[in-house]
Amino acid sequence: MRFRLGALTAFMVALPATAAFAGSGEVSVARGMQVSIIGGCNDCHTAGYNESGGKIDPAAALKGIPVGWNGPWGTTYAANIRLVAKDKTEDEFVQYAKTFTARPPMPFYNVHAMDESDIRSLYQYIKSLGDPGDPMPAALPPGTPPTTPYVVMAPPQMPK
Ligand code: HEC
Repeated sequence: MRFRLGALTAFMVALPATAAFAGSGEVSVARGMQVSIIGGCNDCHTAGYNESGGKIDPAAALKGIPVGWNGPWGTTYAANIRLVAKDKTEDEFVQYAKTFTARPPMPFYNVHAMDESDIRSLYQYIKSLGDPGDPMPAALPPGTPPTTPYVVMAPPQMPK
């Protein structure tokens, strides 16, 4: 019983962060935040998100991370998504989100699969975050050594 009470308290403490979430189908900033979380966007595009166990720093949310992803495609940087939305209308962002492509490890095909209402919510959430901030470093072609920290995405090492 003690343990269960403890678990309940922990749940109630955690609740305020998620209580504002809207249901699917509804277009809102709260739903957009939820979409960014369950879509995994913060994993790669929000500095400090993984290290903090899933806390979103509003100052860093979706602004990109200047750590390179290095592989056969060269080195890419998870972009500042605020800048992607900056000069687009909501309709333009929907069109963009349904069709854009990007290099690895960006799972652009997952964004294509989002409901239109979720893309609209994501747009409204991104716009609500405020100052777009600066672009991430430009991608580098294969063979050009990065000058930032980077993660090597090596091909699998197959046992002999
Ligand atoms: C595994 C890491 C990863 C995840 C997860 C991820 N991204 Fe990305 N994203 C990247 C990288 C790296 C790039 C840069 C790719 C390139 O340079 O071609 C990128 C690029 C983008 C771009 C293109 C920006 C531009 O200027 O061309 C958009 C838009 C984007 N991501 C949105 C999202 C959204 C929305 C989500 C969540 C549904 C998401 N990303 C999840 C790593 C990720």
